[in-house]
Amino acid sequence: MKKTTISVIKADIGSIGGHICPSRYLLDNVENYIKENKKDLLIDFRISYTGDDIAILSTHNRGKDDSEIHSLMFEAFMKGTKAAREQGLYGAGQDLLKDSFSGNIKGMGPAVAELEFEERKNEPFVFFAADKTDPGAYNLPLYLAFTDPMHCSGLILSPKMSKGFRFDIMDVSYTDADKIISLNSPEESYDIAALLRDPERFVVESIYSRSSGEQAVSVSTTRLHNIAGKYTGKDDPVMLARVQGNFPATGEILSPFHIAPYVAGFMRGSHNGPLMPVRFNTSVSFFDGPPVVSCAAYCVHGGRLTEPTDAFDHPFWDHVRGKVSEKAIEIRKQGFFGNAMLPYSELEYGGIVDKMEKLESRFKIKDDKK
Ligand code: F6R
Ligand code: MG
Ligand code: MG
Repeated sequence: MKKTTISVIKADIGSIGGHICPSRYLLDNVENYIKENKKDLLIDFRISYTGDDIAILSTHNRGKDDSEIHSLMFEAFMKGTKAAREQGLYGAGQDLLKDSFSGNIKGMGPAVAELEFEERKNEPFVFFAADKTDPGAYNLPLYLAFTDPMHCSGLILSPKMSKGFRFDIMDVSYTDADKIISLNSPEESYDIAALLRDPERFVVESIYSRSSGEQAVSVSTTRLHNIAGKYTGKDDPVMLARVQGNFPATGEILSPFHIAPYVAGFMRGSHNGPLMPVRFNTSVSFFDGPPVVSCAAYCVHGGRLTEPTDAFDHPFWDHVRGKVSEKAIEIRKQGFFGNAMLPYSELEYGGIVDKMEKLESRFKIKDDKK
């Protein structure tokens, strides 16, 4: 049987009323472009948005990193950018760092996550999209869902998961090529934790089942400011995860998201804020945030997608959202001070750096010893 590939590619190409959410016209333009140009490349696709980012989720048989698939998505975003310019949307084309396609969409701005596998008889998977944060935002939820029986009871209850999982972790500070370490849980889970504690530098790129060797998770690892060398927006990350059977159950993958860890992003990509689980097609609001994550759950069969079900659209998550709002207000109370704002190296605007340069010359060194 032919393998199925799921590719999700997302970009911020313009939004209404600031960096809030894309317009219907922009979404329709992207969708129609794919419909009209997909020929026999795609089996199926879905368009959605989370905050100001549009995601194209697609299925096909062409494997990961296929240049024709990536090119189709890039051209759809170009078409969307044209629509955004026509409407005068804010930040039109923001994430497209190049204006023509050159083989692989990675490094061109949009975020990409892909999985290729032989379909099981029943093939459920989940698609996460986050806005106003960066790829390290998934580090803690993934660590807990794949190594900790407090969230993933299957690690002790299911023989299919008793061997644990392999984490491939990328050092995103290295920009010449992909620099990746593979570590096995449970034996090396302290090493995994030691890296994942620093989500701005070390990011889970993929996770594999050690029972079957199959890939469970793929995360987009783009760091826009590393590619562009300057502020171009946060690298709002997408993630695909296969669930059930050899993998954690959907509810086990969702479990750690109730913690709503403080992540980098929020206003001007320069603050810490709690990661709020929201319904898909939700905008951002308070302080351009808070950082949000949505989760669409699907089944795929012969490459055909079901309709999505919204994993965070449930009374349980309404309760969590109330608590996360309180966390957001608490950290916002301290404004620019200390942990509320990101360290120097992570600020996405140059204002403070410029100020510091000016102020540096006004420091005087007191020579008390004389
Ligand atoms: C963060 C983000 C927004 C903008 C902010 C200012 O990723 O997109 O918080 O940084 O709205 O936007 P500009 O600088 O475009 O006025
Ligand atoms: Mg934006
Ligand atoms: Mg965004």
